[in-house]
Amino acid sequence: MPDKNVLLMVKNVSKEFPVKKNKLYAVSDVSFSVSRGETLGLVGESGCGKSTLAKMIAGSLPVSTGSITLDGVDYTGLSAREFRKFRRNIQMVFQDPLSSFSPRMRIGTYLCEPRINYDHISRQEAMEEAGVLLEKVGLPVEFLNRYPHELSGGQLQRVAIARAIAINPKLLICDEATGALDVSIQNVIAKLLVDLVEEKNIGCIFIGHDLALVRSVTQHIAIMYLGRIVEYLDSETLEEKCMHPYTRALLEAIFDVYCDQNEDIKLLTGEPPSPLVVHKGCPFAQRCERCRNECLENRPELAEAGPNHLVACFNPL
Ligand SMILES: Nc1ncnc2c1ncn2[C@@H]1O[C@H](COP(=O)(O)OP(=O)(O)O)[C@@H](O)[C@H]1O
Ligand SMILES: [Mg+2]
Repeated sequence: MPDKNVLLMVKNVSKEFPVKKNKLYAVSDVSFSVSRGETLGLVGESGCGKSTLAKMIAGSLPVSTGSITLDGVDYTGLSAREFRKFRRNIQMVFQDPLSSFSPRMRIGTYLCEPRINYDHISRQEAMEEAGVLLEKVGLPVEFLNRYPHELSGGQLQRVAIARAIAINPKLLICDEATGALDVSIQNVIAKLLVDLVEEKNIGCIFIGHDLALVRSVTQHIAIMYLGRIVEYLDSETLEEKCMHPYTRALLEAIFDVYCDQNEDIKLLTGEPPSPLVVHKGCPFAQRCERCRNECLENRPELAEAGPNHLVACFNPL
């Protein structure tokens, strides 16, 4: 029986990019689901495939294999024309809000655009809604008349969020949405996002490389490594329950900032292997201090390790 609360289903999704005579395996066999009202965190080092996965879910990049279903509709096979109507269901918020603003467009116009384009409502009606949206994201209505350069990074990101929710999407994808902001603002914006997700009972994928921040605003976390999910678990019990040595290494990297500087902390060294080669063993084996012979020979599958907990490791913690 499919769970009625499940909104997004990602099933065995892979993406390969042709690179000269080779293939670059950006995302490999990724599966997970997101429920209504849930924020799922997606964490991993730069280049592990987070944005590629996000773009496939947003429909802006076709999958190589696999399927993605939103509210029971598999949209991976839709034609460009069919997808145009569907697209509004999934909105993205990016790291650099300024790049999506036109410098000569007032904030109000920017906020009105989606509703006018998709729903053909009048400009006046759209402008009234835009004022309400601004208040919803904690900005004064007067900002409708401002230009992008008159706003701070955090304020612009609030506007980008307001625009994303203007057409009532079912899913919000935030790709490093707080990454370019001052540390003091990051938490505030992240909190605003997840509060909106809860209030509107939509789904959200929150991508970041800051595990501490992602953990604090999500219910579940998927840890990605070299195009694959290596662990999936509850955010709340991340520290106690985590079993993958890579997750542990990411956590230790956070502790390095917060803990006693004299403590002996094993930081992650080296780099992930090349995504241009198919690895027969575990992709993390070369950097893993728990690596055994079988880890070099076979790749561990993501398997159940407890309730809401999946891990891909032969020698977990
Ligand atoms: N259009 C593309 N063509 C070729 N390779 C790409 C393309 N987009 C991304 N990649 C590669 O795919 C891998 C994953 O990239 P990306 O999804 O951007 O990672 P992340 O967002 O986690 O930093 C990287 O090795 C990157 O170089
Ligand atoms: Mg990225």
